[in-house]
Amino acid sequence: MDEMDEVRALVRGVREHLAWLERGGVTGVPRRKGLVPAARAVVSAPVVSAPVVSAPVVSAPVVEAAAPPRIVRADGHGREGLRVIREDLGECFRCNLAPTRKNIVFGVGSPDASLVFIGEGPGMDEDRTGEPFVGKAGQLLDKMIVAMGLLREEVYICNIVKCHPPGPGTSPNRAPEPDEIEACEPFLQRQLAAIRPRLLVALGGVAAKALLHTTAGIMALRGQWKSYQGVPLMPTFHPAYLLRSPDKKRDAWSDLQMVMAEMDRLGLPRRSTPAR
Ligand code: URA
Repeated sequence: MDEMDEVRALVRGVREHLAWLERGGVTGVPRRKGLVPAARAVVSAPVVSAPVVSAPVVSAPVVEAAAPPRIVRADGHGREGLRVIREDLGECFRCNLAPTRKNIVFGVGSPDASLVFIGEGPGMDEDRTGEPFVGKAGQLLDKMIVAMGLLREEVYICNIVKCHPPGPGTSPNRAPEPDEIEACEPFLQRQLAAIRPRLLVALGGVAAKALLHTTAGIMALRGQWKSYQGVPLMPTFHPAYLLRSPDKKRDAWSDLQMVMAEMDRLGLPRRSTPAR
């Protein structure tokens, strides 16, 4: 192999590596005209100069480019930020909820929340405002959060699907379909990977079933620790259901007490005397 062959092999290697990074989900990788600076330096280095063919120079750009494949713009802790995930979601048309939605309801709350609440899907109020749980059910959820010794701003709140599933006929909402859940779940997973919560609460049967990939109903699931993506998850009743069935509030509170006990055991901050 002469020096030109070595340089061509190097260029090919760098291109293959860039393609591999992109296949791994890394976006913003510089293409042909703008290879990573170190690679460009070596690719354009004079063929005649001895260091180009020496092993250390040849391997340097590949090592530099061999960053973790799935994470692009990190927050300093090796995590991608929620803003990047929101940008990637864009004006989403990945499922058939898109044409009728007014706003994508991405999620709200602390990006460092130790507790994340996951609901079913935006209702009409949320579709209008772009924020999850702002209607009557949301007001009850806020009270539940405060009763746990927390504030809405201290937790993170999102949904299984980010767009409002319009109801059939005159009903305001329908449950999201499996293909809609499937299209949205990668974004939820990335949000959770970014936030790194210690505990999750699934609000209602639709959320619990979707997260746990089960057909079991909320009556069977609630009040027991499960796990989603390795994070302990407590299924409980949806606040909208509690508004219709106030007698179930006692059970929901017992589920949330289990969450509070786990928070305390893990040393996660919350006001010690819950407001009721
Ligand atoms: N119900 C949900 O499941 N999510 C919301 O955001 C609002 C109501």
